[in-house]
Amino acid sequence: MAPAFDKQSPPVKEAETATTHNSNTVINVGNHGGDDYKSRVTVVGSGNWGSVAAKLIASNALKLNSFHDEVRMWVFEEMLPSGEKLTEVINRTNENVKYLPGIKLGKNVIADPDIENAVKDANMLVFVTPHQFMEGICRRLVGKVRGDAEAISLIKGMEVKMEGPCMISNLISEQLGINCSVLMGANIANEIAVEKFSEATVGYRDNREIAEQWVQLFSTSYFMVTPVQDVEGVELCGTLKNVVAIAAGFVDGLDMGNNTKAAIMRIGLREMRAFSKLLFSSVRDSTFFESCGVADVITTCLGGRNRKVAEAFAKNGGKRSFDELEAEMLQGQKLQGVSTAREVYEVLSHRGWLELFPLFATVHEICVGRLPPSAIVEYSEKKPRLSMMEDSARH
Ligand SMILES: NC(=O)c1ccc[n+]([C@@H]2O[C@H](COP(=O)([O-])OP(=O)(O)OC[C@H]3O[C@@H](n4cnc5c(N)ncnc54)[C@H](O)[C@@H]3O)[C@@H](O)[C@H]2O)c1
Repeated sequence: MAPAFDKQSPPVKEAETATTHNSNTVINVGNHGGDDYKSRVTVVGSGNWGSVAAKLIASNALKLNSFHDEVRMWVFEEMLPSGEKLTEVINRTNENVKYLPGIKLGKNVIADPDIENAVKDANMLVFVTPHQFMEGICRRLVGKVRGDAEAISLIKGMEVKMEGPCMISNLISEQLGINCSVLMGANIANEIAVEKFSEATVGYRDNREIAEQWVQLFSTSYFMVTPVQDVEGVELCGTLKNVVAIAAGFVDGLDMGNNTKAAIMRIGLREMRAFSKLLFSSVRDSTFFESCGVADVITTCLGGRNRKVAEAFAKNGGKRSFDELEAEMLQGQKLQGVSTAREVYEVLSHRGWLELFPLFATVHEICVGRLPPSAIVEYSEKKPRLSMMEDSARH
């Protein structure tokens, strides 16, 4: 079991502002004495972004009265080449040496390899693992989380089931019986780790106070978070932009230049919006102008691992598989765009929408080797009829 946070020198916490923190805005305020009213946060996941999220949260937990100092972080246990366990090294050095080397997480982050133990006392659960592991994680957590817990998902991706696509926030809500918000944005983890300014968007369902609580937990001077009442719109932005990033990587690998890349980004954003609105009529146009929308498309198409590996794929003429390149280039980190492109393709073919989304469809066809990387700029001849479809979605 993971150790408890040593509170030898408790920090002096800031008084919180009345607008974002009063007795109405704190989740699960009780009439207890002592610290019982304070929220306990657990981060489920500890990869590159998971570790940065834990760092942001840990710094705020120390400052804000409404949170317990200790932040638990569930770590998928791994043996390091040194023969030590990853959790032991994180708890000794305060660093995730595998997924975020060189960055101190905060002494109040406690790595815990036991997922049930990590979540059992938390009333604020932050999910941040590669999306392909979430079904298994949810299955393990059924009946193990507090009934009054609130969740937020930082996960970009979706599951496709027989009945149709299932967003990860929905999977969490349905399996665990708790409300789930989302946080997405133009957030390359390594840049936020070194405290370079960026923005993010919290998508919430209907409780603005809960959204404010999440905003408070994540916001720092270099990380500006805005709430938007559009869970599906925010989450689909975060998910679909990885497919656009793969397309941008192909363009880079083929040395096609900036105009072509800008065209791919614009067409991709348009397909993102149309696809999201066809799936959920509640999705708002304005969401695509938030950090989770256009800003995330730009940052992932300029930097980011999906773009990088897709560039290598195109440079190799599609002869080396994404699995092989991922293993070689990402040191245990996971690509999301290739599996999301497959999941989107399944939805498109199942619903007869393939011709309406030529960029999304072509990305998948290239990833699986049915088309060469150069096909990324040929699909436009297929005359997409998105405008007709967007009109019908509007009515
Ligand atoms: N890295 C970024 O810049 C970034 C930014 C925004 C959002 N995201 C999103 O955050 C999510 C998590 O990404 P990340 O960057 O933290 O992870 P990562 O790709 O850096 O690391 C992979 C993680 O998966 C864990 N893992 C491996 N096998 C597992 C298994 N069988 N079960 C459970 N976990 C297992 C590893 O221990 C590691 O923690 C993804 O959805 C990603 O799209 C990432």
